[in-house]
Amino acid sequence: MAIDGLDLISSARYGAAGPPHEQWRQLRSQPLRYFEPTDYEPFWAVTRHADIMEISGRPDDFCNGEGIVLLTDEQAYRRDNPTIPMVMKTIIEMDPPDHRIFRKVASGYFTPRGIERLDEIVSTSAKAVIDSLGSEGEADFVEKITQQHPLRVLSTILGIEPEQEQQLLELTTQLFGGDDPELQREGETRDEANMALFMDFFTMFNAIIQDRRANPRDDLATMLATATLENGEPLGDIETLGYYLIVFNAGHDTTRHSLTGAFQAFLENPDEFQRLRDDPSLRKTAVEEIVRVSAPVNYMKRTATRDLVFDGHDIEKGDMFALFYASANRDESVFDDPDRFDIGRSPNRHLGFGWAEHYCLGAHLARASISALLEQLAARMEWMEPAGAADYVASSFVVGPKRLPVRYKISG
Ligand code: HEM
Repeated sequence: MAIDGLDLISSARYGAAGPPHEQWRQLRSQPLRYFEPTDYEPFWAVTRHADIMEISGRPDDFCNGEGIVLLTDEQAYRRDNPTIPMVMKTIIEMDPPDHRIFRKVASGYFTPRGIERLDEIVSTSAKAVIDSLGSEGEADFVEKITQQHPLRVLSTILGIEPEQEQQLLELTTQLFGGDDPELQREGETRDEANMALFMDFFTMFNAIIQDRRANPRDDLATMLATATLENGEPLGDIETLGYYLIVFNAGHDTTRHSLTGAFQAFLENPDEFQRLRDDPSLRKTAVEEIVRVSAPVNYMKRTATRDLVFDGHDIEKGDMFALFYASANRDESVFDDPDRFDIGRSPNRHLGFGWAEHYCLGAHLARASISALLEQLAARMEWMEPAGAADYVASSFVVGPKRLPVRYKISG
């Protein structure tokens, strides 16, 4: 099968057919390949586990500061001819040394011990979403469960009131809707729509920032609103806002798609679901396996900071690399029977949370959120079966199903 770069990167193709696992499988066995797809920036497709680890571990050679997604020609044109000056950079778009300085602002909150204090929020939320299903019926599990659970958890730690949650959900869905017309914000032009979206986020988060500065509490919102950098200077308003945005936006759709991926995997592998019900202590390995197979962050872009040789290829400064985590997670040189969903898989060196410098800041929180939902499922979901096809969001960046209709029966 001839591989077309658009198979790897076109949002529309992901919307129509989901991730291109067959193309990745072929690419993993070939030398690194350069693609120049119509209407997109050209890129080297990095599909092997070892190559992604190496590139991620060399932030001085392969940077994030030039952007983390491959742009369409139209997006690249808008970037080079901006009608809105973009002043805000979040940590994912920073490089050393700034990146380390800014990451430290919140990294203490997201350690395993820091996350322990969120146990109650996370388990209460997981129970509430399963309660909301009633005892039996048919529902879209994305709408009822997988988007609600991370929304509740992240809103709580960021100080969003329950009545604002749905508005926040709409904003983040529009931001990550990729090119999905069903999810995009309406506006005269793309720039106007994006500006309106940004202003809505700003209004919501700024009110919280001001409130926490006046009335500090024991939460992440306060930590960000009152944060200082290593040199003792306070975090500026734009940087504080950027932190809110990255925590919410990086945390919501990723966790949602992992949870939806968990349901998909259990629906396709009922024996594995029975295994979890029989032995709920498998939750820990199950969480890793769910992130491995669902891989909601499909790829991140890196840009070469200088001319260099990588894997025998001459690389020019400015060349772009798409690190396909979803492919690395099925690399047959690292995982036995990689397409098999095995909730006891160990070791499981997946790259679903990335690697090295930019390793996911929220990984422990994501694990806790997935684990809490698995606990509820193992204890209460007596039976479930698909009630229709799952269709994918038209996005090649944060990837997952838009809907997942399921019939079910729940106890207690
Ligand atoms: C299953 C859910 C999640 C997945 C699969 C995921 C995946 C990722 C990946 C692949 C990266 C980039 C790593 C790299 O480029 O090397 C990342 C970065 C990041 N994630 Fe997550 N993430 C998840 C949940 C969360 C949550 C819940 C939060 C926040 C509460 C979060 C916050 C972040 C932040 C702030 C970064 C940027 C880190 C940096 O640049 O230093 N993520 N995540």
